[in-house]
Amino acid sequence: MNNSPLYGLDYFDLQIRQALADSLNKNVEDFKLERPRDEKLGDFALPCFRFAKDAGKNPAELANFLATELVIENTSANAAGPFLNFTISRDILAERISRDCESKNYADGQLSGRVVVEYSSPNIAKPMHVGHLRSTAIGACLGRLASKLGHDVVRINHLGDWGSQFGKLVAAWQRWGDEEQLKNAPIKHLLDLYVRYHQLEKEDETLGQEAKVAFKELESGDDNQTRATWKTFTELSLSEFNRTFTRLGCDFDFVRGESWYEDKLDETLNWLEECGITEEDEGATLIKLDDHGIKTPCLVKTSHGTTLYATRDLAAARSRWSEFEFERMLYVFGGEQTLHFNQFSTVLKKGGCDWAERMEHIPFGMIRLGEGKLSTRQGRVLTLEDVLDRAVELALEVIEEKNPDLANKQDTAEMVGVGAVIFHDLKHQRQKDVIFDWKEVLSFEGDTGPYLQYTHARCCAILRKADRPTPNYKQIDSKELADSPELLIALGRYPLALREAWEKREPMVLATYLLKLGAAGNFFYKDKRVLGSGEATESARLYAIDMLRRILADGLAILGVPTPNEM
Ligand code: ARG
Repeated sequence: MNNSPLYGLDYFDLQIRQALADSLNKNVEDFKLERPRDEKLGDFALPCFRFAKDAGKNPAELANFLATELVIENTSANAAGPFLNFTISRDILAERISRDCESKNYADGQLSGRVVVEYSSPNIAKPMHVGHLRSTAIGACLGRLASKLGHDVVRINHLGDWGSQFGKLVAAWQRWGDEEQLKNAPIKHLLDLYVRYHQLEKEDETLGQEAKVAFKELESGDDNQTRATWKTFTELSLSEFNRTFTRLGCDFDFVRGESWYEDKLDETLNWLEECGITEEDEGATLIKLDDHGIKTPCLVKTSHGTTLYATRDLAAARSRWSEFEFERMLYVFGGEQTLHFNQFSTVLKKGGCDWAERMEHIPFGMIRLGEGKLSTRQGRVLTLEDVLDRAVELALEVIEEKNPDLANKQDTAEMVGVGAVIFHDLKHQRQKDVIFDWKEVLSFEGDTGPYLQYTHARCCAILRKADRPTPNYKQIDSKELADSPELLIALGRYPLALREAWEKREPMVLATYLLKLGAAGNFFYKDKRVLGSGEATESARLYAIDMLRRILADGLAILGVPTPNEM
Protein backbone atom coordinates (compact mmCIF):
# COMPACT_ATOMS: atom_id res chain seq x y z
CA MET A 1 0.00 0.00 0.00
CA ASN A 2 1.25 3.47 -0.66
CA ASN A 3 1.13 6.22 1.89
CA SER A 4 -0.17 9.02 -0.26
CA PRO A 5 -3.06 10.92 1.27
CA LEU A 6 -6.53 9.63 0.64
CA TYR A 7 -9.20 12.03 -0.43
CA GLY A 8 -12.95 12.14 -0.13
CA LEU A 9 -14.71 8.97 0.99
CA ASP A 10 -11.55 6.96 0.37
CA TYR A 11 -10.25 8.18 3.69
CA PHE A 12 -13.23 6.87 5.66
CA ASP A 13 -13.35 3.69 3.65
CA LEU A 14 -9.80 2.82 4.65
CA GLN A 15 -10.39 3.79 8.26
CA ILE A 16 -13.32 1.39 8.51
CA ARG A 17 -11.54 -1.45 6.75
CA GLN A 18 -8.58 -0.96 9.07
CA ALA A 19 -10.82 -1.39 12.11
CA LEU A 20 -12.46 -4.47 10.58
CA ALA A 21 -9.09 -5.98 9.78
CA ASP A 22 -7.86 -5.48 13.32
CA SER A 23 -10.99 -6.88 14.83
CA LEU A 24 -11.23 -9.98 12.63
CA ASN A 25 -7.52 -10.48 12.26
CA LYS A 26 -7.46 -10.03 8.50
CA ASN A 27 -5.96 -7.63 5.96
CA VAL A 28 -7.56 -4.36 4.89
CA GLU A 29 -7.59 -5.68 1.32
CA ASP A 30 -9.90 -8.51 2.40
CA PHE A 31 -12.77 -6.08 2.82
CA LYS A 32 -14.73 -4.31 0.19
CA LEU A 33 -17.30 -1.83 1.41
CA GLU A 34 -20.46 -1.15 -0.52
CA ARG A 35 -23.07 1.54 -0.56
CA PRO A 36 -26.07 0.51 1.55
CA ARG A 37 -29.09 -0.21 -0.60
CA ASP A 38 -31.05 2.39 1.29
CA GLU A 39 -28.86 5.45 1.72
CA LYS A 40 -30.61 6.30 4.98
CA LEU A 41 -29.09 3.21 6.56
CA GLY A 42 -25.58 4.56 6.38
CA ASP A 43 -22.68 5.70 4.25
CA PHE A 44 -20.96 2.32 3.86
CA ALA A 45 -22.08 -1.28 4.21
CA LEU A 46 -20.25 -4.52 4.80
CA PRO A 47 -22.05 -7.72 3.81
CA CYS A 48 -20.95 -10.13 6.51
CA PHE A 49 -21.53 -13.44 4.68
CA ARG A 50 -17.94 -14.07 3.64
CA PHE A 51 -16.54 -13.59 7.11
CA ALA A 52 -19.15 -15.41 9.14
CA LYS A 53 -17.74 -18.91 8.97
CA ASP A 54 -14.24 -17.94 10.09
CA ALA A 55 -15.74 -16.05 12.99
CA GLY A 56 -17.83 -19.05 14.00
CA LYS A 57 -21.08 -17.12 13.74
CA ASN A 58 -23.85 -16.70 11.25
CA PRO A 59 -23.77 -13.46 9.22
CA ALA A 60 -26.40 -11.66 11.28
CA GLU A 61 -24.69 -12.64 14.53
CA LEU A 62 -21.41 -11.38 13.19
CA ALA A 63 -22.95 -8.09 12.10
CA ASN A 64 -24.41 -7.68 15.59
CA PHE A 65 -21.19 -8.60 17.25
CA LEU A 66 -19.16 -6.14 15.19
CA ALA A 67 -21.70 -3.38 15.75
CA THR A 68 -21.03 -3.51 19.47
CA GLU A 69 -17.37 -4.47 19.28
CA LEU A 70 -15.93 -1.99 16.78
CA VAL A 71 -14.73 1.38 17.93
CA ILE A 72 -14.08 3.67 14.99
CA GLU A 73 -13.37 7.31 15.46
CA ASN A 74 -16.31 9.49 14.41
CA THR A 75 -18.14 6.55 12.93
CA SER A 76 -21.09 4.55 14.19
CA ALA A 77 -21.80 0.98 13.17
CA ASN A 78 -25.25 -0.64 13.09
CA ALA A 79 -26.34 -4.10 12.14
CA ALA A 80 -29.23 -4.65 9.74
CA GLY A 81 -29.63 -8.39 9.30
CA PRO A 82 -26.44 -9.76 7.75
CA PHE A 83 -25.22 -6.25 6.87
CA LEU A 84 -23.15 -3.94 8.96
CA ASN A 85 -23.77 -0.30 8.12
CA PHE A 86 -21.47 2.57 8.95
CA THR A 87 -22.35 6.22 9.33
CA ILE A 88 -19.74 8.93 9.50
CA SER A 89 -20.32 11.75 11.93
CA ARG A 90 -21.87 14.57 9.89
CA ASP A 91 -19.55 17.25 11.24
CA ILE A 92 -16.49 15.25 10.37
CA LEU A 93 -17.85 14.32 6.96
CA ALA A 94 -18.53 17.99 6.24
CA GLU A 95 -15.10 19.03 7.42
CA ARG A 96 -13.19 16.41 5.50
CA ILE A 97 -15.04 16.69 2.18
CA SER A 98 -14.99 20.49 2.27
CA ARG A 99 -11.28 20.48 2.89
CA ASP A 100 -10.44 17.77 0.35
CA CYS A 101 -12.48 19.29 -2.44
CA GLU A 102 -10.37 22.38 -2.28
CA SER A 103 -7.12 20.46 -2.57
CA LYS A 104 -5.39 20.76 -5.88
CA ASN A 105 -4.90 17.02 -5.90
CA TYR A 106 -8.45 16.05 -5.07
CA ALA A 107 -9.36 12.98 -7.08
CA ASP A 108 -6.04 12.87 -8.90
CA GLY A 109 -4.93 9.29 -8.81
CA GLN A 110 -1.65 7.90 -7.78
CA LEU A 111 -1.20 5.66 -10.77
CA SER A 112 1.89 5.77 -12.90
CA GLY A 113 3.29 4.14 -15.98
CA ARG A 114 2.63 4.76 -19.63
CA VAL A 115 -0.65 4.01 -21.33
CA VAL A 116 -1.07 4.16 -25.08
CA VAL A 117 -4.62 4.78 -26.28
CA GLU A 118 -5.45 4.41 -29.94
CA TYR A 119 -8.83 5.71 -31.00
CA SER A 120 -10.93 7.28 -33.73
CA SER A 121 -8.60 6.32 -36.60
CA PRO A 122 -11.00 7.03 -39.48
CA ASN A 123 -10.22 6.09 -43.07
CA ILE A 124 -9.16 8.94 -45.32
CA ALA A 125 -11.22 9.90 -48.35
CA LYS A 126 -14.39 8.83 -46.57
CA PRO A 127 -16.53 10.94 -44.29
CA MET A 128 -16.49 10.25 -40.57
CA HIS A 129 -19.88 8.77 -39.83
CA VAL A 130 -21.80 8.29 -36.61
CA GLY A 131 -19.98 5.03 -35.98
CA HIS A 132 -16.75 6.95 -35.52
CA LEU A 133 -18.35 8.95 -32.74
CA ARG A 134 -18.12 6.07 -30.33
CA SER A 135 -14.44 5.31 -30.81
CA THR A 136 -13.63 9.00 -30.64
CA ALA A 137 -15.73 9.76 -27.57
CA ILE A 138 -14.83 6.61 -25.61
CA GLY A 139 -11.15 6.69 -26.57
CA ALA A 140 -10.67 10.36 -25.77
CA CYS A 141 -12.46 9.89 -22.45
CA LEU A 142 -10.34 6.90 -21.45
CA GLY A 143 -7.22 8.88 -22.34
CA ARG A 144 -8.30 11.76 -20.11
CA LEU A 145 -9.27 9.40 -17.28
CA ALA A 146 -5.90 7.66 -17.37
CA SER A 147 -4.11 10.95 -17.40
CA LYS A 148 -6.20 12.34 -14.53
CA LEU A 149 -5.31 9.28 -12.48
CA GLY A 150 -1.62 9.83 -13.06
CA HIS A 151 -0.73 7.71 -16.08
CA ASP A 152 1.53 9.07 -18.76
CA VAL A 153 -0.79 8.88 -21.74
CA VAL A 154 0.12 8.66 -25.44
CA ARG A 155 -2.85 9.17 -27.75
CA ILE A 156 -2.61 7.89 -31.27
CA ASN A 157 -4.74 8.32 -34.35
CA HIS A 158 -4.08 5.30 -36.59
CA LEU A 159 -5.50 6.88 -39.70
CA GLY A 160 -6.61 4.40 -42.37
CA ASP A 161 -4.48 5.79 -45.19
CA TRP A 162 -2.94 2.71 -46.77
CA GLY A 163 -4.07 -0.27 -48.75
CA SER A 164 -5.01 -1.29 -52.24
CA GLN A 165 -8.21 0.82 -52.18
CA PHE A 166 -6.00 3.87 -52.52
CA GLY A 167 -4.73 2.49 -55.81
CA LYS A 168 -8.35 2.60 -56.97
CA LEU A 169 -8.82 6.08 -55.66
CA VAL A 170 -5.78 7.43 -57.46
CA ALA A 171 -6.81 5.67 -60.66
CA ALA A 172 -10.31 7.14 -60.36
CA TRP A 173 -8.84 10.57 -59.82
CA GLN A 174 -6.70 10.19 -62.92
CA ARG A 175 -9.84 9.48 -64.91
CA TRP A 176 -12.39 11.90 -63.54
CA GLY A 177 -10.77 14.08 -60.89
CA ASP A 178 -11.90 17.68 -60.64
CA GLU A 179 -9.59 20.19 -58.92
CA GLU A 180 -12.39 22.58 -58.11
CA GLN A 181 -14.58 19.99 -56.41
CA LEU A 182 -11.60 18.59 -54.56
CA LYS A 183 -10.89 22.00 -53.15
CA ASN A 184 -14.46 22.73 -52.11
CA ALA A 185 -15.53 19.44 -50.59
CA PRO A 186 -12.57 17.07 -50.71
CA ILE A 187 -14.02 14.07 -48.91
CA LYS A 188 -17.29 14.21 -50.76
CA HIS A 189 -15.55 14.35 -54.12
CA LEU A 190 -13.17 11.51 -53.26
CA LEU A 191 -16.01 9.35 -52.06
CA ASP A 192 -17.95 9.99 -55.26
CA LEU A 193 -14.91 9.07 -57.34
CA TYR A 194 -14.36 5.91 -55.39
CA VAL A 195 -17.96 4.78 -55.62
CA ARG A 196 -18.06 5.47 -59.35
CA TYR A 197 -14.86 3.53 -59.91
CA HIS A 198 -16.04 0.64 -57.85
CA GLN A 199 -19.20 0.36 -59.91
CA LEU A 200 -17.57 0.60 -63.32
CA GLU A 201 -14.91 -1.89 -62.29
CA LYS A 202 -17.48 -4.66 -62.36
CA GLU A 203 -18.01 -4.15 -66.10
CA ASP A 204 -14.62 -2.98 -67.26
CA GLU A 205 -11.58 -5.10 -66.44
CA THR A 206 -9.01 -2.48 -67.40
CA LEU A 207 -9.97 -0.54 -64.30
CA GLY A 208 -8.77 -3.24 -61.95
CA GLN A 209 -5.46 -3.24 -63.79
CA GLU A 210 -5.10 0.54 -63.52
CA ALA A 211 -5.72 0.39 -59.81
CA LYS A 212 -3.07 -2.27 -59.35
CA VAL A 213 -0.51 -0.21 -61.23
CA ALA A 214 -1.36 2.81 -59.16
CA PHE A 215 -1.02 0.91 -55.90
CA LYS A 216 2.32 -0.58 -57.01
CA GLU A 217 3.53 2.94 -57.67
CA LEU A 218 2.27 4.04 -54.32
CA GLU A 219 3.99 1.16 -52.55
CA SER A 220 7.25 1.57 -54.49
CA GLY A 221 8.18 4.38 -52.15
CA ASP A 222 9.45 6.55 -55.02
CA ASP A 223 8.66 10.19 -55.30
CA ASN A 224 6.15 9.99 -58.07
CA GLN A 225 2.92 11.66 -59.11
CA THR A 226 0.77 8.89 -57.66
CA ARG A 227 2.30 9.38 -54.28
CA ALA A 228 1.95 13.13 -54.44
CA THR A 229 -1.73 12.74 -55.29
CA TRP A 230 -2.31 10.32 -52.43
CA LYS A 231 -0.51 12.68 -50.09
CA THR A 232 -2.82 15.52 -51.08
CA PHE A 233 -5.85 13.30 -50.42
CA THR A 234 -4.51 12.47 -46.97
CA GLU A 235 -3.87 16.08 -46.05
CA LEU A 236 -7.25 17.25 -47.29
CA SER A 237 -9.05 14.47 -45.45
CA LEU A 238 -7.17 15.16 -42.28
CA SER A 239 -8.00 18.83 -42.34
CA GLU A 240 -11.68 17.92 -42.57
CA PHE A 241 -11.33 15.40 -39.76
CA ASN A 242 -9.52 17.95 -37.64
CA ARG A 243 -12.54 20.19 -37.75
CA THR A 244 -14.63 17.39 -36.27
CA PHE A 245 -11.96 16.52 -33.70
CA THR A 246 -11.86 20.13 -32.56
CA ARG A 247 -15.62 20.21 -32.19
CA LEU A 248 -15.49 17.03 -30.14
CA GLY A 249 -12.66 18.41 -28.03
CA CYS A 250 -10.46 15.46 -28.81
CA ASP A 251 -6.75 15.57 -29.35
CA PHE A 252 -3.91 13.29 -30.35
CA ASP A 253 -0.25 13.19 -29.54
CA PHE A 254 0.46 11.42 -32.79
CA VAL A 255 -1.40 11.16 -36.04
CA ARG A 256 0.28 8.19 -37.54
CA GLY A 257 -1.61 6.59 -40.33
CA GLU A 258 -1.08 3.04 -41.44
CA SER A 259 1.33 4.41 -44.05
CA TRP A 260 3.62 5.65 -41.28
CA TYR A 261 4.69 2.05 -40.72
CA GLU A 262 5.52 1.45 -44.36
CA ASP A 263 9.26 1.22 -43.87
CA LYS A 264 8.75 -1.24 -41.02
CA LEU A 265 6.76 -3.77 -42.99
CA ASP A 266 9.66 -5.72 -44.48
CA GLU A 267 11.31 -5.92 -41.15
CA THR A 268 8.06 -7.18 -39.63
CA LEU A 269 7.73 -9.86 -42.30
CA ASN A 270 11.35 -10.90 -41.77
CA TRP A 271 10.82 -11.11 -38.06
CA LEU A 272 7.76 -13.33 -38.51
CA GLU A 273 9.84 -15.51 -40.82
CA GLU A 274 12.63 -15.77 -38.26
CA CYS A 275 10.16 -16.70 -35.56
CA GLY A 276 9.29 -19.64 -37.78
CA ILE A 277 5.56 -19.13 -37.46
CA THR A 278 4.70 -18.25 -41.08
CA GLU A 279 3.40 -20.58 -43.74
CA GLU A 280 3.14 -20.19 -47.50
CA ASP A 281 -0.23 -20.76 -49.08
CA GLU A 282 -0.52 -20.37 -52.87
CA GLY A 283 2.07 -17.62 -52.83
CA ALA A 284 0.56 -15.81 -49.87
CA THR A 285 2.08 -15.69 -46.39
CA LEU A 286 0.01 -16.41 -43.33
CA ILE A 287 0.18 -17.47 -39.71
CA LYS A 288 -2.09 -20.23 -38.54
CA LEU A 289 -3.70 -19.66 -35.18
CA ASP A 290 -5.78 -22.80 -34.58
CA ASP A 291 -3.46 -23.73 -31.74
CA HIS A 292 -4.75 -20.57 -30.03
CA GLY A 293 -8.38 -21.31 -30.74
CA ILE A 294 -8.66 -18.94 -33.72
CA LYS A 295 -9.80 -20.71 -36.86
CA THR A 296 -9.05 -17.96 -39.39
CA PRO A 297 -5.34 -17.61 -40.08
CA CYS A 298 -3.75 -14.16 -40.08
CA LEU A 299 -2.79 -13.16 -43.62
CA VAL A 300 0.28 -10.93 -43.69
CA LYS A 301 1.23 -10.90 -47.39
CA THR A 302 -0.87 -11.49 -50.48
CA SER A 303 0.25 -13.56 -53.44
CA HIS A 304 0.91 -10.26 -55.27
CA GLY A 305 3.42 -9.38 -52.59
CA THR A 306 1.42 -6.59 -51.02
CA THR A 307 0.92 -6.19 -47.28
CA LEU A 308 -2.37 -6.11 -45.41
CA TYR A 309 -4.21 -4.34 -42.63
CA ALA A 310 -2.91 -6.93 -40.14
CA THR A 311 0.70 -6.58 -41.34
CA ARG A 312 0.51 -2.88 -40.62
CA ASP A 313 -1.02 -3.47 -37.20
CA LEU A 314 1.77 -5.89 -36.36
CA ALA A 315 4.36 -3.34 -37.42
CA ALA A 316 2.57 -0.59 -35.51
CA ALA A 317 2.37 -2.60 -32.27
CA ARG A 318 6.06 -3.53 -32.43
CA SER A 319 7.10 -0.01 -33.21
CA ARG A 320 4.99 1.40 -30.38
CA TRP A 321 6.38 -1.11 -27.94
CA SER A 322 9.96 -0.18 -28.73
CA GLU A 323 9.20 3.53 -28.64
CA PHE A 324 6.88 3.75 -25.63
CA GLU A 325 7.38 0.58 -23.55
CA PHE A 326 3.79 0.95 -22.46
CA GLU A 327 2.22 -0.60 -19.41
CA ARG A 328 -1.07 -0.93 -21.26
CA MET A 329 -2.07 -0.25 -24.84
CA LEU A 330 -5.77 0.23 -25.54
CA TYR A 331 -7.30 -0.19 -28.97
CA VAL A 332 -10.65 1.54 -28.90
CA PHE A 333 -12.43 0.20 -31.93
CA GLY A 334 -15.70 -1.54 -32.67
CA GLY A 335 -16.73 -5.08 -31.94
CA GLU A 336 -16.68 -5.93 -35.64
CA GLN A 337 -12.89 -5.88 -35.43
CA THR A 338 -12.59 -8.30 -32.55
CA LEU A 339 -11.37 -11.09 -34.81
CA HIS A 340 -8.80 -8.80 -36.38
CA PHE A 341 -7.53 -7.73 -32.96
CA ASN A 342 -7.40 -11.29 -31.69
CA GLN A 343 -5.52 -12.36 -34.77
CA PHE A 344 -2.74 -9.85 -34.73
CA SER A 345 -2.32 -9.83 -30.96
CA THR A 346 -2.11 -13.63 -31.00
CA VAL A 347 0.50 -13.52 -33.77
CA LEU A 348 2.59 -11.30 -31.51
CA LYS A 349 2.21 -13.72 -28.64
CA LYS A 350 3.18 -16.62 -30.89
CA GLY A 351 6.21 -14.62 -31.91
CA GLY A 352 7.25 -14.47 -28.25
CA CYS A 353 6.29 -10.87 -27.48
CA ASP A 354 5.21 -11.22 -23.87
CA TRP A 355 4.29 -7.53 -23.88
CA ALA A 356 1.37 -8.36 -26.17
CA GLU A 357 -0.45 -9.31 -22.94
CA ARG A 358 -0.57 -5.59 -22.24
CA MET A 359 -2.69 -4.90 -25.29
CA GLU A 360 -6.43 -4.57 -24.79
CA HIS A 361 -9.19 -4.31 -27.29
CA ILE A 362 -11.92 -1.98 -26.00
CA PRO A 363 -14.93 -2.83 -28.17
CA PHE A 364 -18.27 -1.06 -28.10
CA GLY A 365 -21.78 -1.50 -29.44
CA MET A 366 -23.23 0.23 -32.47
CA ILE A 367 -25.19 3.43 -32.73
CA ARG A 368 -28.65 2.85 -34.10
CA LEU A 369 -30.63 5.78 -35.33
CA GLY A 370 -34.17 6.00 -34.12
CA GLU A 371 -36.99 7.05 -36.37
CA GLY A 372 -37.23 10.62 -37.47
CA LYS A 373 -36.15 13.19 -39.93
CA LEU A 374 -32.48 12.63 -39.56
CA SER A 375 -32.25 8.87 -39.75
CA THR A 376 -30.64 9.41 -43.14
CA ARG A 377 -30.57 12.45 -45.36
CA GLN A 378 -31.71 11.66 -48.86
CA GLY A 379 -30.62 8.11 -48.45
CA ARG A 380 -26.97 8.91 -47.94
CA VAL A 381 -24.91 7.87 -44.94
CA LEU A 382 -25.37 10.16 -42.03
CA THR A 383 -22.04 11.85 -41.37
CA LEU A 384 -20.82 12.80 -37.96
CA GLU A 385 -20.82 16.47 -38.98
CA ASP A 386 -24.52 16.17 -39.90
CA VAL A 387 -25.30 14.81 -36.46
CA LEU A 388 -23.34 17.52 -34.67
CA ASP A 389 -24.89 20.25 -36.82
CA ARG A 390 -28.37 19.01 -36.13
CA ALA A 391 -27.68 18.75 -32.40
CA VAL A 392 -26.47 22.35 -32.34
CA GLU A 393 -29.52 23.48 -34.32
CA LEU A 394 -31.84 21.81 -31.82
CA ALA A 395 -29.89 23.16 -28.86
CA LEU A 396 -30.23 26.64 -30.28
CA GLU A 397 -33.99 26.22 -30.52
CA VAL A 398 -34.18 25.27 -26.85
CA ILE A 399 -31.96 28.17 -25.83
CA GLU A 400 -34.04 30.62 -27.88
CA GLU A 401 -37.05 29.41 -26.00
CA LYS A 402 -35.61 29.23 -22.49
CA ASN A 403 -33.18 32.08 -22.44
CA PRO A 404 -33.67 34.39 -25.43
CA ASP A 405 -31.52 37.15 -23.92
CA LEU A 406 -28.43 35.02 -23.53
CA ALA A 407 -25.27 36.51 -25.04
CA ASN A 408 -23.30 34.18 -27.37
CA LYS A 409 -26.25 31.94 -28.11
CA GLN A 410 -24.47 30.29 -31.01
CA ASP A 411 -21.36 29.39 -28.98
CA THR A 412 -23.48 28.07 -26.15
CA ALA A 413 -25.58 26.03 -28.56
CA GLU A 414 -22.39 24.49 -29.93
CA MET A 415 -21.32 23.46 -26.42
CA VAL A 416 -24.75 22.15 -25.49
CA GLY A 417 -25.42 20.35 -28.77
CA VAL A 418 -22.05 18.65 -29.07
CA GLY A 419 -21.91 17.99 -25.33
CA ALA A 420 -25.34 16.36 -25.48
CA VAL A 421 -24.24 13.98 -28.23
CA ILE A 422 -21.06 13.00 -26.39
CA PHE A 423 -22.79 12.53 -23.05
CA HIS A 424 -25.49 10.41 -24.59
CA ASP A 425 -22.86 8.22 -26.16
CA LEU A 426 -20.94 7.75 -22.93
CA LYS A 427 -23.80 7.21 -20.52
CA HIS A 428 -24.52 3.80 -22.00
CA GLN A 429 -22.71 0.66 -21.11
CA ARG A 430 -19.95 0.56 -23.67
CA GLN A 431 -20.68 -2.83 -25.13
CA LYS A 432 -24.39 -2.21 -25.63
CA ASP A 433 -25.90 -0.70 -28.76
CA VAL A 434 -26.97 2.90 -28.43
CA ILE A 435 -30.29 4.01 -29.81
CA PHE A 436 -30.03 7.56 -30.92
CA ASP A 437 -33.23 9.46 -30.31
CA TRP A 438 -32.98 13.23 -30.73
CA LYS A 439 -35.58 14.05 -28.12
CA GLU A 440 -33.77 12.08 -25.50
CA VAL A 441 -30.29 13.29 -26.45
CA LEU A 442 -31.15 16.95 -26.17
CA SER A 443 -33.63 17.01 -23.35
CA PHE A 444 -32.75 19.48 -20.62
CA GLU A 445 -34.27 17.14 -18.08
CA GLY A 446 -33.59 13.55 -17.18
CA ASP A 447 -30.32 11.71 -17.60
CA THR A 448 -28.78 13.99 -20.16
CA GLY A 449 -25.74 16.14 -20.78
CA PRO A 450 -27.77 19.35 -21.02
CA TYR A 451 -29.31 18.61 -17.62
CA LEU A 452 -25.84 18.45 -16.07
CA GLN A 453 -24.64 21.48 -17.99
CA TYR A 454 -27.73 23.28 -16.75
CA THR A 455 -27.01 22.26 -13.16
CA HIS A 456 -23.49 23.62 -13.57
CA ALA A 457 -24.80 26.88 -15.05
CA ARG A 458 -27.24 27.18 -12.15
CA CYS A 459 -24.32 26.97 -9.72
CA CYS A 460 -22.53 29.71 -11.64
CA ALA A 461 -25.68 31.83 -11.55
CA ILE A 462 -26.04 31.47 -7.78
CA LEU A 463 -22.40 32.40 -7.27
CA ARG A 464 -22.83 35.43 -9.54
CA LYS A 465 -25.95 36.50 -7.76
CA ALA A 466 -24.23 36.34 -4.38
CA ASP A 467 -22.24 39.32 -5.55
CA ARG A 468 -19.33 38.63 -3.24
CA PRO A 469 -16.10 36.69 -3.63
CA THR A 470 -16.80 32.96 -3.41
CA PRO A 471 -15.55 31.84 0.02
CA ASN A 472 -12.79 29.27 0.29
CA TYR A 473 -12.52 26.40 2.75
CA LYS A 474 -10.69 28.44 5.38
CA GLN A 475 -13.38 31.09 5.35
CA ILE A 476 -16.28 28.82 6.17
CA ASP A 477 -17.51 26.88 9.15
CA SER A 478 -17.84 23.44 7.61
CA LYS A 479 -20.26 22.31 10.34
CA GLU A 480 -22.82 24.44 8.57
CA LEU A 481 -22.86 21.77 5.86
CA ALA A 482 -23.45 18.86 8.23
CA ASP A 483 -27.15 18.97 7.36
CA SER A 484 -26.47 18.07 3.72
CA PRO A 485 -24.90 14.61 3.85
CA GLU A 486 -26.32 13.57 0.43
CA LEU A 487 -24.34 16.27 -1.31
CA LEU A 488 -21.22 15.62 0.75
CA ILE A 489 -21.31 11.90 0.06
CA ALA A 490 -21.79 12.53 -3.65
CA LEU A 491 -18.86 14.94 -3.73
CA GLY A 492 -16.79 12.51 -1.71
CA ARG A 493 -17.36 9.67 -4.14
CA TYR A 494 -15.67 11.41 -7.07
CA PRO A 495 -12.25 9.77 -6.64
CA LEU A 496 -13.87 6.33 -6.47
CA ALA A 497 -15.97 6.96 -9.53
CA LEU A 498 -12.95 7.97 -11.57
CA ARG A 499 -11.00 4.95 -10.45
CA GLU A 500 -13.82 2.54 -11.16
CA ALA A 501 -14.49 4.08 -14.58
CA TRP A 502 -10.86 3.59 -15.50
CA GLU A 503 -10.51 0.10 -14.04
CA LYS A 504 -13.55 -1.06 -15.98
CA ARG A 505 -12.62 1.01 -19.05
CA GLU A 506 -16.18 2.25 -18.76
CA PRO A 507 -16.98 5.97 -19.14
CA MET A 508 -20.56 5.11 -18.17
CA VAL A 509 -19.45 4.78 -14.54
CA LEU A 510 -18.36 8.40 -14.52
CA ALA A 511 -21.45 9.58 -16.42
CA THR A 512 -23.74 7.78 -13.96
CA TYR A 513 -21.83 9.20 -11.04
CA LEU A 514 -22.18 12.73 -12.41
CA LEU A 515 -25.92 12.26 -12.82
CA LYS A 516 -26.14 11.26 -9.16
CA LEU A 517 -24.04 14.24 -8.17
CA GLY A 518 -26.26 16.47 -10.28
CA ALA A 519 -29.35 15.10 -8.57
CA ALA A 520 -27.82 15.65 -5.12
CA GLY A 521 -26.87 19.17 -6.18
CA ASN A 522 -30.34 19.99 -7.47
CA PHE A 523 -31.84 18.67 -4.28
CA PHE A 524 -29.44 20.78 -2.25
CA TYR A 525 -30.20 24.11 -3.85
CA LYS A 526 -33.90 23.48 -3.99
CA ASP A 527 -34.08 22.28 -0.42
CA LYS A 528 -31.72 24.74 1.20
CA ARG A 529 -31.88 28.44 0.92
CA VAL A 530 -28.46 29.73 -0.05
CA LEU A 531 -28.60 33.48 -0.45
CA GLY A 532 -29.81 35.39 2.58
CA SER A 533 -29.58 32.41 4.92
CA GLY A 534 -27.41 34.31 7.40
CA GLU A 535 -23.71 35.04 7.09
CA ALA A 536 -22.21 31.77 8.32
CA THR A 537 -24.75 29.56 6.59
CA GLU A 538 -24.65 31.47 3.35
CA SER A 539 -20.85 31.32 3.20
CA ALA A 540 -20.81 27.58 3.75
CA ARG A 541 -23.58 26.95 1.25
CA LEU A 542 -21.94 29.13 -1.37
CA TYR A 543 -18.81 27.12 -0.85
CA ALA A 544 -20.84 23.92 -1.31
CA ILE A 545 -22.24 25.27 -4.57
CA ASP A 546 -18.73 26.05 -5.66
CA MET A 547 -17.53 22.50 -4.88
CA LEU A 548 -20.44 21.15 -6.87
CA ARG A 549 -19.67 23.46 -9.77
CA ARG A 550 -15.99 22.49 -9.83
CA ILE A 551 -16.53 18.76 -9.69
CA LEU A 552 -19.25 18.84 -12.31
CA ALA A 553 -16.99 20.82 -14.61
CA ASP A 554 -14.02 18.55 -13.96
CA GLY A 555 -15.95 15.32 -14.46
CA LEU A 556 -17.76 16.54 -17.54
CA ALA A 557 -14.48 17.73 -19.04
CA ILE A 558 -13.11 14.21 -18.63
CA LEU A 559 -16.10 12.92 -20.57
CA GLY A 560 -15.47 15.61 -23.18
CA VAL A 561 -18.57 17.66 -22.34
CA PRO A 562 -17.95 21.42 -22.11
CA THR A 563 -19.62 23.48 -19.38
CA PRO A 564 -20.85 26.97 -20.30
CA ASN A 565 -21.24 29.35 -17.36
CA GLU A 566 -24.60 30.46 -18.60
CA MET A 567 -27.22 28.76 -20.70
N1 ARG B 1 -9.39 2.64 -39.80
C1 ARG B 1 -10.25 1.69 -39.18
C2 ARG B 1 -11.71 2.05 -39.42
O1 ARG B 1 -12.05 3.19 -39.70
C3 ARG B 1 -10.03 1.61 -37.71
C4 ARG B 1 -8.61 1.34 -37.29
C5 ARG B 1 -8.52 0.60 -36.00
N2 ARG B 1 -7.20 0.49 -35.48
C6 ARG B 1 -6.32 -0.43 -35.79
N3 ARG B 1 -5.14 -0.40 -35.20
N4 ARG B 1 -6.57 -1.39 -36.62
O2 ARG B 1 -12.55 1.18 -39.32
